Amino acid sequence: MTRAIGVLTAGGDSPGLNAAIRAVGKSAQRAHGMEVIGFLDGFLGLARRRFVRLHSEDLSGILTRGGTVLGTSRAKVHKMDLGDGESRDMRQEIARVVEGLELEAVVCLGGDGTAKNAYKLSEAGVPVLTLPKTIDNDVAGTDVTFGFDTALGIATDAIDRLHSTAHSHHRIMVVEVMGHKVGWLALGAGLAAGADVILIPEIPYDIESVASSIEERKAGGSTFSIVAVAEGAISRQDAGRRERLLAEMKEETGERRREVKQRLKDLDRTRVGGTTTLASRLTELTGLESRVTILGHVQRGGTPSPADRLLATQLGAAATDFIAEGVHGVLVAARDGNAEAIPLKKVAGKIKHVPLDHPWVASTRALGIALGD
Ligand code: F6P
Repeated sequence: MTRAIGVLTAGGDSPGLNAAIRAVGKSAQRAHGMEVIGFLDGFLGLARRRFVRLHSEDLSGILTRGGTVLGTSRAKVHKMDLGDGESRDMRQEIARVVEGLELEAVVCLGGDGTAKNAYKLSEAGVPVLTLPKTIDNDVAGTDVTFGFDTALGIATDAIDRLHSTAHSHHRIMVVEVMGHKVGWLALGAGLAAGADVILIPEIPYDIESVASSIEERKAGGSTFSIVAVAEGAISRQDAGRRERLLAEMKEETGERRREVKQRLKDLDRTRVGGTTTLASRLTELTGLESRVTILGHVQRGGTPSPADRLLATQLGAAATDFIAEGVHGVLVAARDGNAEAIPLKKVAGKIKHVPLDHPWVASTRALGIALGD
């Protein structure tokens, strides 16, 4: 009987996904004699049995392409909307699909949300493995994720370009960098591009302190400043409010808990657009004109960097070796240059923040770049 596996891409797209699909597909076919099918639009395709057979010609010419040839979605396996507004638990249905197609495993390429979905499936008896992709670099258990290096290059290039215009107009240029709840991308790009202030979620900022570091620069003769701000950056006041609400939520149950949860959501919602407010406050406090640049999805687009292609290829090929050995229920992680299988149980539901003692944080401080604290 021919052996077969499935592959899908879930969550936000990321450079390197096609390189990983190619590596999973080609290594499965060539090294292990397996057939490969690709499910469309993430877990949605898996639940609806929507797939394509990936032949070797389908895997050629995709290495350098951005996005994902399989399509993606943020559908959740335990609360899936199939288009009618209803939320359904599709885990048993997915188990039937995988069994019916006689798949040895399904390789799910995704970030922390995908790890959660995959763990739920593995608990329901579905053989799954995940590969760590995301521009946010926040997947627990792996040294790095593919997509991050490309996005880092794009964000660094953008901040480089903002320097000349900031300098010419004597302005504060506030540039918002993606990263969801973590600061890897803003810190990395800010440091690589020589930003003057870097604000990340892990270090809640004080607006007065940010303003005074800009004023110090002004006093020293630098009439412009570049502020790299992570989309999840948070002020000290808001961080305090969040902490109190989280503590309250732990204490409460039932209706009262739902109320506190809603207040937490409202707080996060009012922070959307926070970068524009931050820039206006800095203008008020320093008297310098400011402009906002939101890099947005540009950071996720286009061809993957060589480092991302290599990582996606290495992990994709390792995934099929693990499957051939009968290993599943794991994240195929990058560890010290090798691919390691880490049980999903250990990583699902966790995100990897920037540690406060990370060398990048230390270098930032050593160079006198303000972190807003
Ligand atoms: O996880 C990748 C990411 O690009 C985050 O940095 C960002 O917060 C989010 O996805 C945006 O998601 P969407 O494309 O669904 O707006």
